[in-house]
Amino acid sequence: MPRIFKNEAALTPEYIPSKLPYREEQLRELEAYFKSFIESPGSMYPKVILIGRPGSGKTVTSRKFGNYVVKSSNKVQYVHVSCFLNRTLNSVLKDIGVQLNIAIPKRGYSTEELLKILLDMIREKDKYAIVALDDVFHLVNNSGPHALGTLIRLGEEYISRGDRYRFGLILISQDLTFKDQLDRSSQSSLGNAVIKFEPYTKDQIFEILLTRAQEALVDGAYDEEILEMIADVAGIDERSMDEHRGDARYAIDILWRAAKFAEMRNAERILPEHVREAIKNTLRGIRSDELRMLPLHEKIFLLAIVRSLTKNPNSPYIPFGTAESEYQMLCEQYGEEPRKHTQLWEYLRDLNLKGFVETRSSSKGMRGRTTLISIPSEPLDTLHEELRKIIEGELGT
Ligand SMILES: Nc1ncnc2c1ncn2[C@@H]1O[C@H](COP(=O)(O)OP(=O)(O)O)[C@@H](O)[C@H]1O
Ligand SMILES: [Mg+2]
Repeated sequence: MPRIFKNEAALTPEYIPSKLPYREEQLRELEAYFKSFIESPGSMYPKVILIGRPGSGKTVTSRKFGNYVVKSSNKVQYVHVSCFLNRTLNSVLKDIGVQLNIAIPKRGYSTEELLKILLDMIREKDKYAIVALDDVFHLVNNSGPHALGTLIRLGEEYISRGDRYRFGLILISQDLTFKDQLDRSSQSSLGNAVIKFEPYTKDQIFEILLTRAQEALVDGAYDEEILEMIADVAGIDERSMDEHRGDARYAIDILWRAAKFAEMRNAERILPEHVREAIKNTLRGIRSDELRMLPLHEKIFLLAIVRSLTKNPNSPYIPFGTAESEYQMLCEQYGEEPRKHTQLWEYLRDLNLKGFVETRSSSKGMRGRTTLISIPSEPLDTLHEELRKIIEGELGT
C-alpha cells in the first residue's frame, strides 16, 4: 500500500510549522515591539498593526510569535481572537475571557458590564495578555468603529484607575482602511507601528511548499518539480501581479489536494495530473476554511445561490426570491427547518461583506425593485462541490 502522507495535519490551515521562511524579519520586529512589555509587564501598552494580502502569513506569524511569548514569559499570555468568528465587541470580550480562563457570565449583561467584569477580573487575578485581533476589519465592518476603539483604549482604562497596563495589542488586517474609520483619539492611541507582509514570489512559495512537504509527505512522494509547478500558479512575478497571487494558503491547499488525489488513485507519488486536478478543485477568492466557519444555514443559503446561478447559465444575476425558493427546497431535502426571510437578508448582507457574493438593486425596468445576486469570483461547479461536501459532512448525511 503506497503511502503519500506521513503527517497530513502539517498541510492544514491551523498548523504552525516549525520554520517560517521569509517571515523571520516580521517575527523579529514583533519581538522588538513587545520586548519591554514582556520583560516588565504593565510598563507600557504596545500596539502593532500587521498588514498584507490573504495568504501572506499574517496569522501564522502572529501565532508563532504567541508561542514565543508563552515560552519567554510566565506572566504574559497570548490571546488570538478571530474577528471572522467574533464580529461583535461582546463576543470578542467573551473570547478573550475564555482564553484567559476567566469565567464570564454567558448572558444577561450589557457589553459595558461585561467589559467591566473582564477588566476587574484581569486585575484581580493579576494577568497580562498580548491580544491579537485577527482580520479585524470584519469587526469594524460588522459592528462599526466604536467596538474597535473600545478595544484599543482597553489598556488606558487601567491607567485611569491607577493600575498598570494589562494588554498589548496586535491588529491584523489586509490593509489600513479600518484605521481611517476610527475616531481621532483611537487613531492616535493606536499609533503607527506597522509590519508589512508582502505577497510571496514564486521562489518563496516554492521554499514554503518544500518546508511544508518535508513535514507532511513521505520522502519519495513528491518531486521538487511538482512543487515548482504549484509555485508557478500561486506566486507573483513581474508579469502576474494579480490580487490573488502570492497566497501561500492557496499553494498549500493545492499541494494537499494533489496529495489526496495521488492517495485516492493509489499512485506512489504525486503526478502533474494530480496537480492539475487539484488546481481545478481549489477555490481562489473564497477561502474554504472561511466557508467552513459560516453558520450552517448561511452555507445552505450560499449553496442555494450557487445552484440558482447554475440553473440560469445565461444570466450573471439571480433575484433574491429565486435564491430563497431554492434555499427552501434545499432545506426540505436536508430535513432542516428553513430560517426566516429576515434571517436570509442578514446572511446575504454578511456574504456580501465577506466578498463571497456581489449584490445590486435591479434597474427600474424589471417588475418592482429587487436585489440581484451574483458570484463573479469562482467557477460555480468547484464552489458547489466544496459547499456540498462541507454541508453534508456537517449534517452527517
Ligand atoms: N513563511 C511561511 N512558511 C510556511 N508556511 C506559511 C508561511 N506563510 C504562510 N504559510 C502558510 O500559509 C497559509 C496561509 O497563511 P496565513 O498566516 O493564514 O495567511 P494570512 O493570515 O496572511 O491570510 C497557512 O497555512 C500558513 O501556515
Ligand atoms: Mg489570516
